[in-house]
Amino acid sequence: MLNVGFVGWRGMVGSVLMQRMQEDNEFQGIEPIFFTTSQVGQPGPEIGVEVPPLKDAFDIEALKALDVVVTCQGGDYTKEVYEKLRQAGWQGYWIDAASTLRMADEATIVLDPVNRHVIDAQLANGAKTFVGGNCTVSLMLMGLGGLFEADMIEWMTSMTYQAASGSGAKHMRELIEQMGALRDGVKNELADPSSAILDLDRRVTATMRGGDFPTDNFGAPLAGSLLPWIDSPMENGQSREEWKGGVEANKILGLANNPIPIDGLCVRIGAMRSHSQAFTIKLKQDVPLDEIEDRLARHNDWVKVIPNDKDATIAGLTPAAVTGTMNVPVGRLRKLAMGGEYLSAFSVGDQLLWGAAEPLKRMLAILRE
Ligand code: HSE
Repeated sequence: MLNVGFVGWRGMVGSVLMQRMQEDNEFQGIEPIFFTTSQVGQPGPEIGVEVPPLKDAFDIEALKALDVVVTCQGGDYTKEVYEKLRQAGWQGYWIDAASTLRMADEATIVLDPVNRHVIDAQLANGAKTFVGGNCTVSLMLMGLGGLFEADMIEWMTSMTYQAASGSGAKHMRELIEQMGALRDGVKNELADPSSAILDLDRRVTATMRGGDFPTDNFGAPLAGSLLPWIDSPMENGQSREEWKGGVEANKILGLANNPIPIDGLCVRIGAMRSHSQAFTIKLKQDVPLDEIEDRLARHNDWVKVIPNDKDATIAGLTPAAVTGTMNVPVGRLRKLAMGGEYLSAFSVGDQLLWGAAEPLKRMLAILRE
């Protein structure tokens, strides 16, 4: 029986992972051991099987006894512990949600409905380090997997509409605080249907720009606005989030030596936990739309092709419809005015499920096969 250490299981991604593992009975048949950075010796979580008291997440000897470490603790923990553990001679499997190791040669980025062949080849080569991809990248590949699988894409852009959860739990709270502050600032005007809309709008803008507006986490208003920059700057004008789109997608697909150009603009919007993306795809050939829809729909069990009509789109292709589900709808499929090789598409996916926890959970399941 594999003994599996869990680190960072109480955070947002970790909690979703715990919940999904319980839903699918995946604590049965393993020996789960929970680690902590602050509460050593306290009882472990209730997960339907008996677990020992919490162990110290920085105790290299305790970690060395594990077959598998699954960490959602974040990049600082990975930086602090991973090298030490490997240098101590540990040969176990490291499954990580953080981006720290993603582009390292020894690491495989996991998204098995898309790259099971890459994962299997790496396992056969003795690979031991498996990392979840950037949420936007994983969701893009889950939605468009059928086109990548058929090698139909010459290049593509991804214009994103990313939810607050991608920045963290505090940011989600701040978004709601911002929404509340905007509403509270015009309570009286809203209650009076005859109040002038431009006065109401002026007040909203004044609240948003005011010194009391809660922006400690985002650094700027997001509610009623948007933020067209995510993560740190690269040297070429891309944001790191935009850079990840190209390099991680190609690494996941096993195309790092012959990459498909993928680039775009990443934007934070006031959604809670589902990321959306608009794609412009340059196809290698003018493939009929019904063949495209068929390939997309057949690629995996979670992608759902949404007919390109207004009612179906508004009902099914939004964060409000998708959040909390495993579905990755893809719609707005049509050929663009530039010609038959130019396809538009739009997809939505839960940033914490397929975007973070699910690929890790499934990698652990692959190790148990
Ligand atoms: N970097 C992503 C975001 C989150 O900021 O939305 C996780 O990959």
